[in-house]
Amino acid sequence: MAVNSDRTIRNIALTGFMGVGKSSVGRALAEQLHFEFLDTDEVIETNAGKSISRIFSEEGESTFRALECQLVQQLAGRDRLVISTGGGLAVNADNLASLKAHALVVCLWASPEAIWERVRHQSHRPILQTVDPPARIRELLAQREPFYKQADVLVNTELRSLREVVQQVLFQFQLARQPGR
Ligand code: S3P
Repeated sequence: MAVNSDRTIRNIALTGFMGVGKSSVGRALAEQLHFEFLDTDEVIETNAGKSISRIFSEEGESTFRALECQLVQQLAGRDRLVISTGGGLAVNADNLASLKAHALVVCLWASPEAIWERVRHQSHRPILQTVDPPARIRELLAQREPFYKQADVLVNTELRSLREVVQQVLFQFQLARQPGR
């Protein structure tokens, strides 16, 4: 992990594909750290007054991505946050750079097969409204992998329990905040 000295790590941002456990891990981290938990999808839905699915269907994905960018900019001045990001948010280089200025960026990882197992019974995922969702997951994950891997820390969630993932992230966060880093 390389954390530049010109960064002030005050927050944690969880990135990664849908279904990897960003919300569960994020909530547990926030509880342990006594930080606020913030889910970018939830904030966007609240601000827009409609679901992500409706934003996608009524206004298009590009509007949703613009709302994500706006929100990321607004988070730059915040403190003591655990931010769970939507699966496509950190694929945008500006979003990633902005998050890295104040947060330790942790990507949670899982294989396409494990992701499909976790999301197959969920119907609210606009990205998966396609004839062959497992193929879509494989394709998108392969496209996004180089971006996800620019996180400070990569944690494979398939090999670890929720508790272990949380411990791993906490350890890395404490390390990143040590003076002189
Ligand atoms: C998306 C993932 C979703 C949500 C939107 C688009 C994506 O977030 O932001 O449906 O492009 O992968 P989760 O990763 O929280 O499901």
